[in-house]
Amino acid sequence: PTIYIITPTYLRETQMADLTRLRNTLLLVPKIVWIIVEDSLEKSDKISSFAMESNLNIVHLAEKTLKLEKPSKYSAHKGVEQRNRGIYWIKEKQPQNAIVYFADDDNSYSLKLFEDIRSVKKIGVWPVALVGGLKYEAPICNNDKVVDWFYAYNQRRYVPTDMASFAINVQLLYQFDDSYFERFTKSDLEGSFLKRLNIKVADFEPKAEVCSKIHVWHTRTMLVKIRKGEIVERKI
Ligand code: UGA
Ligand code: MN
Repeated sequence: PTIYIITPTYLRETQMADLTRLRNTLLLVPKIVWIIVEDSLEKSDKISSFAMESNLNIVHLAEKTLKLEKPSKYSAHKGVEQRNRGIYWIKEKQPQNAIVYFADDDNSYSLKLFEDIRSVKKIGVWPVALVGGLKYEAPICNNDKVVDWFYAYNQRRYVPTDMASFAINVQLLYQFDDSYFERFTKSDLEGSFLKRLNIKVADFEPKAEVCSKIHVWHTRTMLVKIRKGEIVERKI
């Protein structure tokens, strides 16, 4: 199968650093389509040139995050309209033999992750490091089946896990009309999506050596404040 990788991205000082790091990883992965969705009204020249110079099969799209008021008790999620735009593009193109993975631009990905993703039948799951206030969140396995999940934050999540922890067969997107992400959830962006796809624990295919290894890290690039106003130059 071909792996369709959907990456939301937005303008900030560290954007090109994050995207370049991700591109360098993806250059080492065969048979992929990288769907980059900018959080903007229009595609920027910067990302257009980045995509052109990349030697990768890139689909470049843009979808701006809507300014909506957050209902109380709900949390607002990032990258939602962008991932949905990517899903919409896939639903239009209808690739048949494909696995879909949502790869945020600032995480760190091992090449082994993509080898695992390639073998997904319905939904593959694996641990994600440095997330949810823990060293890792992970599926708990027994006899090569997922039986529970190791996590700490928000017990009410349908599946207590991060975006980076699963990949799905594209057919699931075609099967369910509402296979989209919701901007506002009760802190359960991922779970609410998987619920809409009617995913059950028995569907989970454990990867990363029966979920005993880390192949993806939920790293976050530190926001850099650039000095405004007078710039002090040191004269030597
Ligand atoms: C966590 C999860 O890892 C994300 O998958 C999830 O979208 C997010 O929480 C959430 O619940 O909103 P976190 O590291 O806090 O992630 O989120 P970011 O990495 O800042 O954003 C997720 C993706 O959306 C990134 O690819 C980022 O470039 C993009 N994004 C972020 C936008 O497109 N627009 C924004 O205004 C902010
Ligand atoms: Mn992130």
